[in-house]
Amino acid sequence: MQLYGVIGHPISHSLSPVLHNWAFKKFGYKDKVYIAWDITPKNLEKFLHNLDIFQVKGLSVTIPHKQNILSFAQKISPLAQKIQAANTLVYHKGIWLAENTDVYGFIQPLQQLNIKLQKALILGAGGASLAVIYGLKKLKIEEIYISNRTISKARQLAKNLGLKEISWEDKEKLRPDILINTTPLGMSGKWQNKTPWNADLKGIKVVYDIIYNPNPTLLLKQAKKFNCTTISGLEMFIYQAQQQFKLFTGQTFSFYEAFNYLNINTF
Ligand code: ATR
Repeated sequence: MQLYGVIGHPISHSLSPVLHNWAFKKFGYKDKVYIAWDITPKNLEKFLHNLDIFQVKGLSVTIPHKQNILSFAQKISPLAQKIQAANTLVYHKGIWLAENTDVYGFIQPLQQLNIKLQKALILGAGGASLAVIYGLKKLKIEEIYISNRTISKARQLAKNLGLKEISWEDKEKLRPDILINTTPLGMSGKWQNKTPWNADLKGIKVVYDIIYNPNPTLLLKQAKKFNCTTISGLEMFIYQAQQQFKLFTGQTFSFYEAFNYLNINTF
């Protein structure tokens, strides 16, 4: 048996085991299994140093380990190095490689759209916003604004990465071509009935919420009322897993098959 899995804390909400095990079955890998490990920051090092005993060959890495994992890897991809965060560890030719597939996951749904986007507004300046910022830069979006409840964090990112900042109170005055939510507002649990946007969405072409549970979020429901094109976190989630699965096995599963499978079996 070869083991794969996702490590994070908390981890019970993760859809990764359902998706990766579906894909293993689809490609006939009877010797590969994917599980969820709830690993606290305190236990991370101990866990990582025992991977070989259990024949672990690949890991998805999520909150709060995306940055700390870099010090464990023997090789870090240029992208993960640039962002200083990885969501994938893969054992290849005797070494552990750290990679970031979140940027790919974020970009893919946007590349499918045939909409010219020049001005973007990112809500939130936490860990998840970094892959979004690099994704938008890769797409050559000219003007990128960032807004955060705690303005100092937005200011810091704006300064370091050449973005513009706008205060949390004034952000609704801006009319970007694309609005992206990276805050937990709208996520299932205590944030479910919340939205990070307290105004109409007139003139905004695309609204992208990186939350995947619930699907759609309150923000995306609002956006549909204003005829904006919407992208859900489920799309980003599936694409990041698609690239991860390719790193694990060399195989590529179909986005649409995965999307249908998750929609039927999890929501
Ligand atoms: P992640 O890795 O998911 O980005 P994080 O690093 O904890 O998680 O960042 C969460 C982001 O959501 C932050 O930008 C946070 O704003 P603060 O910097 O002010 O904490 C934002 N956020 C969390 N709860 C929020 C709320 N109730 N209203 C507005 N923003 C919120």
